[in-house]
Amino acid sequence: MNDATSLGRFPTTRLRRNRTDAWTRRLVAETRLSIDDLIWPIFVMDGSNAVTDVASMPGVQRVTVDRLAAHVEPAARLGIPALALFPVTPNEKKDAEGTESGNPDNLICQAARLLKREFPQMGLIGDVALDPYTNHGHDGVLREGYVANDASVEVLVRQSINQARAGIDVMAPSDMMDGRIGAIRAGLDAEGFIHVRLMSYAAKYASAFYGPFRDALGSGGSLKGDKKTYQMDPANTDEALREVAFDLQEGADSVMVKPGMPYLDIVRRVHERFHVPTFVYQVSGEYAMIMAAIRNGWLDHDKAMLESLLAFKRAGAAGVLTYFAPAAAKLLRG
Ligand code: PBG
Repeated sequence: MNDATSLGRFPTTRLRRNRTDAWTRRLVAETRLSIDDLIWPIFVMDGSNAVTDVASMPGVQRVTVDRLAAHVEPAARLGIPALALFPVTPNEKKDAEGTESGNPDNLICQAARLLKREFPQMGLIGDVALDPYTNHGHDGVLREGYVANDASVEVLVRQSINQARAGIDVMAPSDMMDGRIGAIRAGLDAEGFIHVRLMSYAAKYASAFYGPFRDALGSGGSLKGDKKTYQMDPANTDEALREVAFDLQEGADSVMVKPGMPYLDIVRRVHERFHVPTFVYQVSGEYAMIMAAIRNGWLDHDKAMLESLLAFKRAGAAGVLTYFAPAAAKLLRG
C-alpha cells in the first residue's frame, strides 16, 4: 500500500484510491445491473408435455404450452419483469403468407392466455414478424421473390391485433418493414387497444448472430436467401438513427437495437440522441458464443455473463433481452 517516496514526483491524484476496497467500489459504481433490467425470451412449441433442448444454445429449451407455467415460475418468483415469446410453428402450419400468425389459437395466443392467468404481474412481449409462420422463412410476404413492404405490413397489423386480443401487452415488430409502427399503432387503436405498447426493433441488423435462434425456431433451414433487403447493413450507424427517428414519430414507446454486443456503439448513439427507453437484444449467437467458451472452461460463467450484461447498461440501455435472464436474476438476487 505504501508506495510513496521522498522524491515527491508521484501523482497526488490516484484513481486507484477509489478502487481500494469493495465498499468504495460499490459507492462509485456508475452503472448497475438489476433484475428490473431483464427480459427473458422463451420458445413455445406445439404438442404436449414436452421440453426439448436447443443444441446450439446450451441451457435454452423449447416447451409445450402445458409445461409453460412450470418453466416460467422460477423467473416469475425472481421478479423478472417481462417475457418475450417466440413460437416454434409446426411445418404443416406454415405457408407462404404466414396465415398462422392471424390464428387466434396459435401458439403465441395460447401461451399469452395461459401466462396472463398464471402470472398477471409479468409483462408479455410478442414478436411481430412472419418468419416463424412462413415456409420461406422471411419476415414478410413475397411478391415476385421480393419481401413486399406494404403487403407485409397489412399482415403484421392483423398479427398484432390477434396477439393483443390474446393478452400480449407489448408488440415488438422485428420485421424491419417501413411504416409498420404507424400502421400497427393505428390498427391497435382502432380496435381499442390504446394501452398496448410498441417496442420497435428499430435498428435491427442483417446479422450472422441469429443463427442459433433460427435453429430453435426451425426457420433457418427453410430460409431462402438472406434478409439484407430489409434488415440493416452492419456497416451503417447514421441509418440506425433515421430508423429510430421514424419509429418514434410513428408512435413507438421504446426502441431496440439488435444484436447487442457487436452494436454497443449504436445503443450509445441512440440513447444519447433520443433519450427514449432503448432496449438491446443480446441475441442467440452472442449467448451461444459465451456459453461455448464457458463449456470449454475458457470463461467463467457468472463473471462473463454479468459483465456482458453490464456493458449494455453502460452503453445506455434501459433493459436487455437475454437468454441469461433467469441465471442472471438468480445471481443478482443472491
Ligand atoms: C424474427 C426474429 C429473429 C430474432 C428475433 N426475432 C431472427 C431473424 O430476424 O432472423 C433473433 C433473435 C436471436 O437471435 O436471439 N424476426
